[in-house]
Amino acid sequence: MFVDIKKIKPHPKNQEIYSLSNIDDLRTSIRSVGLLEKIIIDQHFQIISGHRRYLAVCNLNWKEVECEQIEVNESDVITYLIHHNKQRIKTCRELLNEAKVLMEEHKIGQGKRSDLILCEEVLTSVNLNRSRTRDIVGDLIGISGVQITKLLFIEKHNPGLIDLIDNGLFTINQAYIQTSRDKKEQDAQLENRKTSKKTFNDNFRFFKKCSSKMNELLTDEVDCIFTSPPYWNKRKYCENGGLGNEKDSDEYVSNLVKHLNDCKRVLSDTGSFFLNLGDTFHQGNLMNIPHRVAISLQEKGWILRNTIIWAKTNPKPSSSKNNLCPTYEFIFHLVKSMDYKYNHTLIPLKEDTKPSHAPRHRNLKCSLTMQTPYIPREGKNMGDWWNEDIVKSAVVNQKSFGEVEHPAPFPPKIVTLPVLQTTQEGDLVLDPFMGSGTTGNVANQYNRRFVGYDVQVY
Ligand SMILES: C[S@@+](CC[C@H](N)C(=O)[O-])C[C@H]1O[C@@H](n2cnc3c(N)ncnc32)[C@H](O)[C@@H]1O
Repeated sequence: MFVDIKKIKPHPKNQEIYSLSNIDDLRTSIRSVGLLEKIIIDQHFQIISGHRRYLAVCNLNWKEVECEQIEVNESDVITYLIHHNKQRIKTCRELLNEAKVLMEEHKIGQGKRSDLILCEEVLTSVNLNRSRTRDIVGDLIGISGVQITKLLFIEKHNPGLIDLIDNGLFTINQAYIQTSRDKKEQDAQLENRKTSKKTFNDNFRFFKKCSSKMNELLTDEVDCIFTSPPYWNKRKYCENGGLGNEKDSDEYVSNLVKHLNDCKRVLSDTGSFFLNLGDTFHQGNLMNIPHRVAISLQEKGWILRNTIIWAKTNPKPSSSKNNLCPTYEFIFHLVKSMDYKYNHTLIPLKEDTKPSHAPRHRNLKCSLTMQTPYIPREGKNMGDWWNEDIVKSAVVNQKSFGEVEHPAPFPPKIVTLPVLQTTQEGDLVLDPFMGSGTTGNVANQYNRRFVGYDVQVY
Protein backbone atom coordinates (compact mmCIF):
# COMPACT_ATOMS: atom_id res chain seq x y z
CA MET A 1 0.00 0.00 0.00
CA PHE A 2 1.13 3.59 -0.65
CA VAL A 3 0.96 5.91 2.36
CA ASP A 4 1.12 9.69 2.54
CA ILE A 5 4.58 10.61 3.91
CA LYS A 6 2.98 13.14 6.28
CA LYS A 7 1.05 10.38 8.03
CA ILE A 8 4.19 8.35 8.87
CA LYS A 9 6.04 8.92 12.17
CA PRO A 10 9.45 7.70 13.34
CA HIS A 11 9.13 5.46 16.40
CA PRO A 12 10.35 7.30 19.56
CA LYS A 13 11.97 4.11 20.91
CA ASN A 14 13.92 3.78 17.68
CA GLN A 15 15.48 7.19 18.27
CA GLU A 16 16.38 6.15 21.80
CA ILE A 17 18.23 3.05 20.59
CA TYR A 18 19.75 3.82 17.18
CA SER A 19 21.74 6.68 15.78
CA LEU A 20 20.81 7.45 12.20
CA SER A 21 24.05 7.29 10.29
CA ASN A 22 24.73 9.23 7.10
CA ILE A 23 22.01 8.61 4.51
CA ASP A 24 23.68 10.23 1.47
CA ASP A 25 24.50 6.90 -0.23
CA LEU A 26 21.05 5.49 0.49
CA ARG A 27 19.37 8.59 -0.93
CA THR A 28 21.48 8.36 -4.12
CA SER A 29 20.63 4.68 -4.48
CA ILE A 30 16.87 5.23 -3.95
CA ARG A 31 16.93 8.08 -6.46
CA SER A 32 18.52 5.87 -9.12
CA VAL A 33 16.85 2.46 -8.55
CA GLY A 34 13.81 3.31 -6.42
CA LEU A 35 12.83 1.90 -3.02
CA LEU A 36 13.67 -1.82 -3.09
CA GLU A 37 12.30 -2.64 0.36
CA LYS A 38 9.00 -1.41 1.75
CA ILE A 39 8.86 0.53 5.01
CA ILE A 40 7.13 -1.43 7.76
CA ILE A 41 4.68 0.57 9.88
CA ASP A 42 2.32 -0.36 12.69
CA GLN A 43 -1.40 0.36 13.03
CA HIS A 44 -0.51 3.89 14.34
CA PHE A 45 1.66 4.61 11.25
CA GLN A 46 4.78 4.46 13.44
CA ILE A 47 7.82 3.03 11.67
CA ILE A 48 8.85 -0.42 12.83
CA SER A 49 11.51 -0.92 10.17
CA GLY A 50 12.95 1.56 7.64
CA HIS A 51 13.82 4.75 9.53
CA ARG A 52 16.79 5.51 7.26
CA ARG A 53 14.74 4.78 4.13
CA TYR A 54 12.00 7.08 5.46
CA LEU A 55 14.52 9.92 6.02
CA ALA A 56 15.98 9.39 2.55
CA VAL A 57 12.60 9.60 0.80
CA CYS A 58 11.63 12.67 2.87
CA ASN A 59 14.90 14.17 1.70
CA LEU A 60 13.98 13.37 -1.90
CA ASN A 61 10.63 15.16 -1.34
CA TRP A 62 8.49 12.09 -2.08
CA LYS A 63 4.84 12.63 -1.26
CA GLU A 64 4.02 9.00 -0.62
CA VAL A 65 5.92 5.78 -0.07
CA GLU A 66 5.19 2.06 -0.33
CA CYS A 67 4.64 0.52 3.12
CA GLU A 68 3.61 -2.73 4.71
CA GLN A 69 1.32 -2.19 7.68
CA ILE A 70 1.34 -4.74 10.47
CA GLU A 71 -0.67 -5.10 13.65
CA VAL A 72 1.72 -4.93 16.62
CA ASN A 73 0.77 -5.51 20.26
CA GLU A 74 2.03 -2.70 22.53
CA SER A 75 3.98 -5.27 24.52
CA ASP A 76 5.77 -6.52 21.38
CA VAL A 77 6.86 -3.18 19.94
CA ILE A 78 10.45 -3.24 21.29
CA THR A 79 11.03 -6.82 20.25
CA TYR A 80 9.71 -6.05 16.77
CA LEU A 81 11.86 -2.93 16.40
CA ILE A 82 14.98 -4.80 17.42
CA HIS A 83 14.14 -7.87 15.38
CA HIS A 84 13.72 -5.77 12.24
CA ASN A 85 17.12 -4.16 12.83
CA LYS A 86 18.87 -7.49 13.19
CA GLN A 87 20.63 -7.38 9.80
CA ARG A 88 21.96 -3.89 10.33
CA ILE A 89 25.64 -3.32 11.23
CA LYS A 90 25.36 -1.89 14.72
CA THR A 91 27.74 0.03 16.93
CA CYS A 92 28.42 -1.21 20.45
CA ARG A 93 26.53 1.79 21.78
CA GLU A 94 23.46 0.63 19.79
CA LEU A 95 23.87 -2.98 20.91
CA LEU A 96 24.01 -1.77 24.49
CA ASN A 97 20.89 0.34 24.02
CA GLU A 98 19.08 -2.66 22.54
CA ALA A 99 20.13 -4.89 25.42
CA LYS A 100 19.09 -2.31 28.01
CA VAL A 101 15.64 -1.62 26.59
CA LEU A 102 14.97 -5.33 26.20
CA MET A 103 16.04 -6.04 29.74
CA GLU A 104 14.10 -3.08 31.08
CA GLU A 105 11.04 -4.07 29.08
CA HIS A 106 11.13 -7.53 30.58
CA LYS A 107 12.46 -6.38 33.96
CA ILE A 108 15.40 -8.72 33.89
CA GLY A 109 17.69 -8.76 36.88
CA GLN A 110 21.33 -9.87 36.97
CA GLY A 111 21.39 -13.28 35.34
CA LYS A 112 17.86 -14.11 36.50
CA ARG A 113 15.58 -15.80 34.06
CA SER A 114 12.27 -14.01 33.72
CA ASP A 115 10.22 -15.23 30.83
CA LEU A 116 10.44 -12.97 27.85
CA ILE A 117 7.28 -12.35 25.95
CA LEU A 118 8.25 -12.95 22.37
CA CYS A 119 6.07 -12.46 19.33
CA GLU A 120 5.82 -15.36 16.95
CA GLU A 121 7.88 -13.78 14.18
CA VAL A 122 10.82 -13.48 16.59
CA LEU A 123 10.60 -16.87 18.25
CA THR A 124 12.44 -18.60 15.37
CA SER A 125 15.67 -16.67 16.04
CA VAL A 126 15.76 -17.46 19.74
CA ASN A 127 16.93 -20.57 21.54
CA LEU A 128 14.50 -20.80 24.43
CA ASN A 129 16.38 -23.69 26.03
CA ARG A 130 18.90 -21.20 27.29
CA SER A 131 18.77 -20.72 31.03
CA ARG A 132 20.14 -17.18 31.23
CA THR A 133 17.98 -14.33 30.03
CA ARG A 134 21.04 -12.42 28.84
CA ASP A 135 21.72 -15.24 26.40
CA ILE A 136 18.17 -14.98 25.07
CA VAL A 137 18.55 -11.20 24.76
CA GLY A 138 21.89 -11.95 23.02
CA ASP A 139 20.08 -14.16 20.49
CA LEU A 140 17.67 -11.32 19.81
CA ILE A 141 20.36 -8.72 19.16
CA GLY A 142 22.98 -10.98 17.60
CA ILE A 143 25.75 -11.14 20.24
CA SER A 144 26.46 -13.49 23.14
CA GLY A 145 25.15 -13.02 26.67
CA VAL A 146 28.75 -12.79 27.90
CA GLN A 147 29.45 -9.87 25.55
CA ILE A 148 26.34 -8.13 26.90
CA THR A 149 27.58 -8.58 30.46
CA LYS A 150 30.99 -7.16 29.47
CA LEU A 151 29.49 -4.16 27.68
CA LEU A 152 27.24 -3.35 30.65
CA PHE A 153 30.27 -3.56 32.99
CA ILE A 154 32.35 -1.26 30.75
CA GLU A 155 29.50 1.23 30.46
CA LYS A 156 29.05 1.31 34.23
CA HIS A 157 32.70 1.80 35.17
CA ASN A 158 34.34 3.44 32.14
CA PRO A 159 31.63 4.67 29.73
CA GLY A 160 34.13 6.57 27.54
CA LEU A 161 35.58 3.24 26.37
CA ILE A 162 32.37 2.35 24.50
CA ASP A 163 33.15 5.10 21.96
CA LEU A 164 36.73 3.87 21.69
CA ILE A 165 35.41 0.38 20.84
CA ASP A 166 33.16 1.91 18.20
CA ASN A 167 36.14 3.83 16.78
CA GLY A 168 38.05 0.56 16.43
CA LEU A 169 40.67 1.40 19.08
CA PHE A 170 39.68 -1.42 21.43
CA THR A 171 37.92 -4.76 21.11
CA ILE A 172 35.17 -5.48 23.65
CA ASN A 173 37.52 -7.90 25.39
CA GLN A 174 40.42 -5.46 25.59
CA ALA A 175 38.12 -2.74 26.95
CA TYR A 176 36.71 -5.20 29.49
CA ILE A 177 40.19 -6.24 30.69
CA GLN A 178 41.24 -2.60 30.96
CA THR A 179 38.07 -1.69 32.89
CA SER A 180 38.45 -4.62 35.31
CA ARG A 181 42.10 -3.71 35.86
CA ASP A 182 41.28 -0.04 36.51
CA LYS A 183 38.47 -1.01 38.86
CA LYS A 184 40.73 -3.39 40.77
CA GLU A 185 43.33 -0.62 41.14
CA GLN A 186 40.70 1.90 42.27
CA ASP A 187 39.32 -0.56 44.82
CA ALA A 188 42.83 -1.28 46.11
CA GLN A 189 43.54 2.48 46.37
CA LEU A 190 40.30 3.03 48.27
CA GLU A 191 41.22 0.23 50.63
CA ASN A 192 44.72 1.72 51.03
CA ARG A 193 43.30 5.14 51.75
CA LYS A 194 41.15 3.69 54.52
CA THR A 195 44.10 1.90 56.12
CA SER A 196 46.54 4.77 55.80
CA LYS A 197 44.11 7.16 57.48
CA LYS A 198 44.02 4.80 60.42
CA THR A 199 47.78 4.42 60.61
CA PHE A 200 48.98 8.06 60.58
CA ASN A 201 51.20 8.06 63.69
CA ASP A 202 54.89 8.01 64.64
CA ASN A 203 55.41 4.92 62.55
CA PHE A 204 53.60 6.39 59.54
CA ARG A 205 54.54 10.01 58.98
CA PHE A 206 53.33 12.00 56.00
CA PHE A 207 54.40 15.41 54.68
CA LYS A 208 52.13 17.06 52.15
CA LYS A 209 54.80 18.84 50.18
CA CYS A 210 57.22 18.46 47.30
CA SER A 211 59.92 15.91 48.09
CA SER A 212 62.80 17.67 46.34
CA LYS A 213 63.86 19.11 49.74
CA MET A 214 63.03 16.77 52.63
CA ASN A 215 64.29 19.04 55.40
CA GLU A 216 62.23 17.11 57.95
CA LEU A 217 64.63 14.16 57.51
CA LEU A 218 68.15 13.87 58.87
CA THR A 219 71.10 12.99 56.68
CA ASP A 220 71.57 9.17 56.50
CA GLU A 221 68.35 8.59 58.47
CA VAL A 222 66.55 6.35 55.95
CA ASP A 223 67.22 2.61 55.46
CA CYS A 224 65.21 1.95 52.31
CA ILE A 225 63.47 4.01 49.64
CA PHE A 226 60.84 2.42 47.44
CA THR A 227 59.13 4.79 45.05
CA SER A 228 57.34 5.25 41.77
CA PRO A 229 57.59 8.88 40.58
CA PRO A 230 55.24 10.46 38.04
CA TYR A 231 56.13 9.02 34.62
CA TRP A 232 56.81 11.39 31.73
CA ASN A 233 53.84 12.77 29.83
CA LYS A 234 51.14 10.68 31.55
CA ARG A 235 49.31 12.67 34.21
CA LYS A 236 49.13 16.13 35.77
CA TYR A 237 49.48 16.05 39.54
CA CYS A 238 49.73 19.85 40.10
CA GLU A 239 48.02 22.92 38.66
CA ASN A 240 51.19 24.00 36.87
CA GLY A 241 51.90 20.51 35.55
CA GLY A 242 54.94 19.77 37.71
CA LEU A 243 57.23 16.76 37.46
CA GLY A 244 56.32 14.56 34.48
CA ASN A 245 54.88 17.41 32.41
CA GLU A 246 58.12 18.70 30.87
CA LYS A 247 57.98 19.54 27.17
CA ASP A 248 60.55 16.87 26.27
CA SER A 249 61.93 13.73 27.81
CA ASP A 250 65.48 15.14 28.25
CA GLU A 251 64.11 17.84 30.53
CA TYR A 252 62.11 15.23 32.48
CA VAL A 253 65.17 13.00 32.98
CA SER A 254 67.23 15.94 34.19
CA ASN A 255 64.43 17.25 36.51
CA LEU A 256 63.76 13.82 38.02
CA VAL A 257 67.44 13.13 38.63
CA LYS A 258 67.82 16.57 40.29
CA HIS A 259 64.67 15.92 42.35
CA LEU A 260 66.15 12.67 43.64
CA ASN A 261 69.32 14.39 44.95
CA ASP A 262 67.84 14.68 48.43
CA CYS A 263 67.13 10.92 48.46
CA LYS A 264 70.89 10.40 48.32
CA ARG A 265 71.37 12.71 51.31
CA VAL A 266 68.76 11.06 53.55
CA LEU A 267 69.62 7.43 52.66
CA SER A 268 72.19 5.79 54.90
CA ASP A 269 75.37 4.33 53.34
CA THR A 270 74.01 0.88 54.13
CA GLY A 271 70.58 1.63 52.63
CA SER A 272 68.92 0.75 49.32
CA PHE A 273 66.93 2.77 46.83
CA PHE A 274 64.33 1.02 44.62
CA LEU A 275 63.07 3.14 41.75
CA ASN A 276 60.08 1.88 39.74
CA LEU A 277 59.74 3.66 36.39
CA GLY A 278 57.63 3.12 33.29
CA ASP A 279 58.47 4.29 29.79
CA THR A 280 56.53 6.55 27.42
CA PHE A 281 55.99 6.47 23.66
CA HIS A 282 56.45 9.85 21.98
CA GLN A 283 55.25 10.02 18.37
CA GLY A 284 55.54 6.23 18.25
CA ASN A 285 59.08 6.28 19.62
CA LEU A 286 59.70 4.47 22.93
CA MET A 287 61.85 7.00 24.78
CA ASN A 288 63.97 4.62 26.92
CA ILE A 289 63.37 6.93 29.86
CA PRO A 290 63.92 4.40 32.69
CA HIS A 291 67.43 3.56 31.48
CA ARG A 292 68.32 7.18 30.78
CA VAL A 293 67.35 8.00 34.39
CA ALA A 294 69.34 5.03 35.70
CA ILE A 295 72.45 6.07 33.72
CA SER A 296 72.17 9.66 34.98
CA LEU A 297 71.87 8.38 38.56
CA GLN A 298 74.99 6.23 38.07
CA GLU A 299 76.78 9.34 36.81
CA LYS A 300 75.78 11.00 40.10
CA GLY A 301 77.53 8.24 42.04
CA TRP A 302 74.75 5.71 42.62
CA ILE A 303 75.70 2.03 42.16
CA LEU A 304 73.15 0.05 40.14
CA ARG A 305 72.87 -3.44 41.67
CA ASN A 306 69.96 -4.82 39.63
CA THR A 307 67.50 -3.90 36.95
CA ILE A 308 64.49 -5.92 38.02
CA ILE A 309 61.80 -6.69 35.47
CA TRP A 310 58.34 -6.46 36.97
CA ALA A 311 56.10 -8.50 34.67
CA LYS A 312 52.56 -7.21 35.05
CA THR A 313 49.82 -9.72 35.72
CA ASN A 314 47.23 -7.83 33.76
CA PRO A 315 48.98 -5.34 31.45
CA LYS A 316 47.09 -2.43 29.94
CA PRO A 317 45.89 -3.64 26.53
CA SER A 318 47.31 -1.86 23.51
CA SER A 319 45.41 -1.22 20.31
CA SER A 320 48.56 -0.98 18.16
CA LYS A 321 48.73 -3.32 15.18
CA ASN A 322 52.42 -2.83 14.42
CA ASN A 323 54.23 -3.40 17.69
CA LEU A 324 53.91 -5.54 20.82
CA CYS A 325 51.93 -4.70 23.93
CA PRO A 326 54.23 -3.42 26.74
CA THR A 327 53.88 -5.90 29.61
CA TYR A 328 56.60 -4.96 32.10
CA GLU A 329 58.22 -2.12 33.99
CA PHE A 330 61.65 -1.69 35.55
CA ILE A 331 62.61 -1.50 39.20
CA PHE A 332 66.18 -0.25 39.61
CA HIS A 333 67.97 -1.30 42.78
CA LEU A 334 70.51 1.43 43.57
CA VAL A 335 72.87 1.78 46.51
CA LYS A 336 75.37 4.37 47.77
CA SER A 337 78.09 1.90 48.75
CA MET A 338 78.81 -1.80 48.50
CA ASP A 339 78.29 -2.01 52.29
CA TYR A 340 74.55 -2.01 51.87
CA LYS A 341 72.43 -4.35 54.03
CA TYR A 342 70.92 -7.27 52.17
CA ASN A 343 69.09 -10.41 53.18
CA HIS A 344 70.15 -13.05 50.69
CA THR A 345 67.06 -14.24 48.81
CA LEU A 346 66.90 -17.85 47.73
CA ILE A 347 64.41 -19.69 45.62
CA PRO A 348 63.87 -23.46 45.89
CA LEU A 349 65.81 -25.72 43.55
CA LYS A 350 63.93 -27.70 40.95
CA GLU A 351 64.18 -31.49 41.21
CA ASP A 352 66.32 -31.76 38.07
CA THR A 353 68.82 -28.98 38.88
CA LYS A 354 72.28 -30.02 37.64
CA PRO A 355 75.25 -29.65 40.01
CA SER A 356 77.21 -26.46 39.34
CA HIS A 357 80.98 -26.22 39.75
CA ALA A 358 81.66 -23.99 42.67
CA PRO A 359 83.46 -22.32 44.23
CA ARG A 360 85.11 -21.24 40.96
CA HIS A 361 88.91 -21.31 40.91
CA ARG A 362 90.52 -18.00 40.07
CA ASN A 363 93.32 -19.73 38.17
CA LEU A 364 92.00 -19.87 34.63
CA LYS A 365 94.28 -22.77 33.82
CA CYS A 366 92.47 -24.94 36.34
CA SER A 367 90.35 -27.36 34.40
CA LEU A 368 86.65 -27.54 35.25
CA THR A 369 86.75 -31.31 35.71
CA MET A 370 89.03 -30.85 38.70
CA GLN A 371 86.44 -28.84 40.61
CA THR A 372 84.19 -30.50 43.15
CA PRO A 373 80.53 -30.71 41.98
CA TYR A 374 78.48 -28.39 44.20
CA ILE A 375 74.73 -28.31 44.77
CA PRO A 376 73.49 -25.32 46.83
CA ARG A 377 70.92 -27.41 48.73
CA GLU A 378 69.43 -24.40 50.52
CA GLY A 379 68.25 -23.00 47.16
CA LYS A 380 69.61 -20.76 44.46
CA ASN A 381 69.93 -17.00 44.27
CA MET A 382 66.68 -15.41 43.14
CA GLY A 383 66.55 -14.00 39.60
CA ASP A 384 65.78 -10.45 38.50
CA TRP A 385 62.61 -11.29 36.53
CA TRP A 386 59.64 -11.08 38.86
CA ASN A 387 56.00 -11.82 38.48
CA GLU A 388 53.24 -12.16 41.04
CA ASP A 389 53.76 -15.88 41.74
CA ILE A 390 57.56 -15.69 41.96
CA VAL A 391 57.39 -12.82 44.46
CA LYS A 392 54.72 -14.53 46.54
CA SER A 393 56.65 -17.77 46.85
CA ALA A 394 59.97 -15.94 47.50
CA VAL A 395 58.48 -13.89 50.35
CA VAL A 396 57.10 -16.88 52.21
CA ASN A 397 60.13 -19.13 51.64
CA GLN A 398 62.88 -16.97 53.16
CA LYS A 399 64.50 -18.01 56.43
CA SER A 400 66.47 -14.75 56.49
CA PHE A 401 63.29 -12.65 56.59
CA GLY A 402 62.01 -14.33 59.76
CA GLU A 403 58.30 -15.13 60.17
CA VAL A 404 56.44 -13.07 57.58
CA GLU A 405 52.85 -13.04 56.45
CA HIS A 406 51.72 -13.79 52.93
CA PRO A 407 52.05 -10.57 50.95
CA ALA A 408 48.92 -8.82 49.69
CA PRO A 409 48.21 -8.92 45.96
CA PHE A 410 50.02 -6.65 43.48
CA PRO A 411 50.96 -3.81 43.65
CA PRO A 412 51.73 -4.10 47.43
CA LYS A 413 53.48 -7.39 46.78
CA ILE A 414 56.02 -5.73 44.54
CA VAL A 415 57.09 -3.51 47.47
CA THR A 416 57.23 -6.37 49.97
CA LEU A 417 60.27 -8.20 48.67
CA PRO A 418 62.60 -5.16 48.35
CA VAL A 419 61.58 -3.97 51.84
CA LEU A 420 62.22 -7.39 53.40
CA GLN A 421 65.48 -7.86 51.48
CA THR A 422 67.04 -4.60 52.62
CA THR A 423 65.61 -3.70 56.06
CA GLN A 424 65.11 -5.07 59.57
CA GLU A 425 62.18 -4.48 61.91
CA GLY A 426 62.23 -0.88 63.21
CA ASP A 427 64.12 0.46 60.16
CA LEU A 428 62.84 3.56 58.35
CA VAL A 429 61.35 3.28 54.84
CA LEU A 430 60.74 6.37 52.66
CA ASP A 431 58.48 6.95 49.67
CA PRO A 432 59.05 10.46 48.27
CA PHE A 433 56.07 10.07 45.85
CA MET A 434 53.73 8.36 48.28
CA GLY A 435 50.44 8.32 46.31
CA SER A 436 47.90 6.20 48.17
CA GLY A 437 50.56 4.92 50.57
CA THR A 438 51.23 1.40 49.30
CA THR A 439 54.89 1.49 50.36
CA GLY A 440 53.93 2.78 53.83
CA ASN A 441 51.31 0.14 54.37
CA VAL A 442 53.72 -2.63 53.42
CA ALA A 443 56.46 -1.14 55.64
CA ASN A 444 54.10 -0.97 58.64
CA GLN A 445 52.74 -4.45 57.95
CA TYR A 446 56.28 -5.81 58.47
CA ASN A 447 57.01 -3.55 61.47
CA ARG A 448 59.18 -1.02 59.65
CA ARG A 449 58.66 2.70 60.27
CA PHE A 450 57.57 4.83 57.32
CA VAL A 451 57.77 8.40 56.10
CA GLY A 452 56.06 9.62 52.94
CA TYR A 453 55.87 12.79 50.86
CA ASP A 454 53.30 13.79 48.28
CA VAL A 455 51.97 17.03 46.85
CA GLN A 456 48.48 15.61 47.13
CA VAL A 457 46.51 13.78 49.81
CA TYR A 458 44.71 10.67 48.65
C1 LIG B 1 52.98 7.33 40.14
S1 LIG B 1 52.22 8.09 41.49
C2 LIG B 1 52.76 7.11 42.82
C3 LIG B 1 51.86 5.97 43.06
C4 LIG B 1 52.15 5.26 44.36
N1 LIG B 1 53.32 4.40 44.20
C5 LIG B 1 50.93 4.46 44.84
O1 LIG B 1 51.04 3.31 45.16
O2 LIG B 1 49.83 5.05 44.87
C6 LIG B 1 53.16 9.55 41.67
C7 LIG B 1 52.81 10.40 42.87
O3 LIG B 1 53.76 11.45 42.95
C8 LIG B 1 53.10 12.60 43.47
N2 LIG B 1 53.92 13.77 43.12
C9 LIG B 1 53.99 14.42 41.95
N3 LIG B 1 54.90 15.43 42.04
C10 LIG B 1 55.41 15.38 43.29
C11 LIG B 1 56.39 16.14 43.98
N4 LIG B 1 57.03 17.14 43.39
N5 LIG B 1 56.69 15.80 45.26
C12 LIG B 1 56.05 14.78 45.87
N6 LIG B 1 55.10 14.03 45.28
C13 LIG B 1 54.79 14.33 44.00
C14 LIG B 1 51.74 12.57 42.81
O4 LIG B 1 50.80 13.32 43.55
C15 LIG B 1 51.45 11.07 42.80
O5 LIG B 1 50.72 10.71 43.92
